[in-house]
Amino acid sequence: MYQADENRYGKMVYNRCGKTGLKLPAISLGLWHNFGDGSNPENIREMLLTSFDLGITHFDLANNYGPAPGSAESNFGKILKSDLNAYRDELIISTKAGYKMWEGPYGDWGSKKYLVASLDQSLKRIGVDYVDIFYHHRMDPETPLWETMDALAGIVRSGKALYVGLSNYSPEKLAEASKILREMGVPCLIHQHRYSMLQRDNEKLIPVIEEADMGAIAFCPLAQGLLTGKYNAGVPADSRMAGKSVFLDEKALTDEVIEKLVRLGKFAEKRGQALPQMALAWALKKGKLTSVIIGASRAGQIVENVKTLENLEFTEDEMNRIEGILA
Ligand SMILES: NC(=O)c1ccc[n+]([C@@H]2O[C@H](COP(=O)([O-])OP(=O)(O)OC[C@H]3O[C@@H](n4cnc5c(N)ncnc54)[C@H](OP(=O)(O)O)[C@@H]3O)[C@@H](O)[C@H]2O)c1
Repeated sequence: MYQADENRYGKMVYNRCGKTGLKLPAISLGLWHNFGDGSNPENIREMLLTSFDLGITHFDLANNYGPAPGSAESNFGKILKSDLNAYRDELIISTKAGYKMWEGPYGDWGSKKYLVASLDQSLKRIGVDYVDIFYHHRMDPETPLWETMDALAGIVRSGKALYVGLSNYSPEKLAEASKILREMGVPCLIHQHRYSMLQRDNEKLIPVIEEADMGAIAFCPLAQGLLTGKYNAGVPADSRMAGKSVFLDEKALTDEVIEKLVRLGKFAEKRGQALPQMALAWALKKGKLTSVIIGASRAGQIVENVKTLENLEFTEDEMNRIEGILA
């Protein structure tokens, strides 16, 4: 029987989510890739339990993660039942709805009909009575923002989620949505967006997030693996890119990007860190993040990435020099 590492909470840093009562681990684990039905169940179990043993308390899901859609939630639910059930109150489980999940007009976007039905399905797949964070996955330009926020607030009142989050909103829509939620008495806990050394557009969200007292969490903080340096000399056979992920194309490997990655790698080495560790530490600081959601294909990557916490500090000079490389 699995027994969690007694020292797990000494291995992680927990950051307060905005001005809320909730703390999240500086490093969270996402189940977008490598937790679906095509993945090895033993590897899934090892990644989840290794994470928890390292103090990773937050697991990020969505209705559509797989393949097949829904299977990452089901597979997470299996490990929750077999190994982590005794630790439910030590876990922050998040899921989302907003992308296409089922056929017809009620299986996508942001209507109340879709969000409530989707969360009910997610709860069944995960095998829990409630999730800790329920996200609207992307803004729906056709549904009134009020309706989507009303659905989220109602979900919290129903007890099926403790907190709500928003993901992939523009600064303008995030400001509007968070105001509506606050007026409804269910403030937005957190915004989730893409952010890394190579993808910095979402720095424009920071003032809105701060103004609304919410937390910020980044996805793809390693740019799906580019920021590990693993693609600097070609595409390794056991990588996401070689797996023909539709989300990560070889076109991303331009000379300019590789040159930056090589320079960043040398800079990280001078700091006594590996590149992914520096990339995660930098994102936490520069992006003013509560947490970064890493992905992994094997447990060793999670162990390596949690070593980020050994050096989270940057001098002003280091930040400026990194800025010079990224420019
Ligand atoms: N809200 C949204 O719209 C949205 C969108 C996308 C993702 N997300 C969330 O964000 C999570 C993370 O996204 P992501 O998986 O793209 O994050 P990522 O951390 O940028 O990339 C993770 C991938 O990089 C490789 N990797 C990680 N650490 C490594 C290491 N130390 N050495 C070598 N390779 C390493 C692994 O791929 P390989 O080993 O296979 O190469 C791993 O699967 C998702 O699981 C999901 O929860 C949310």
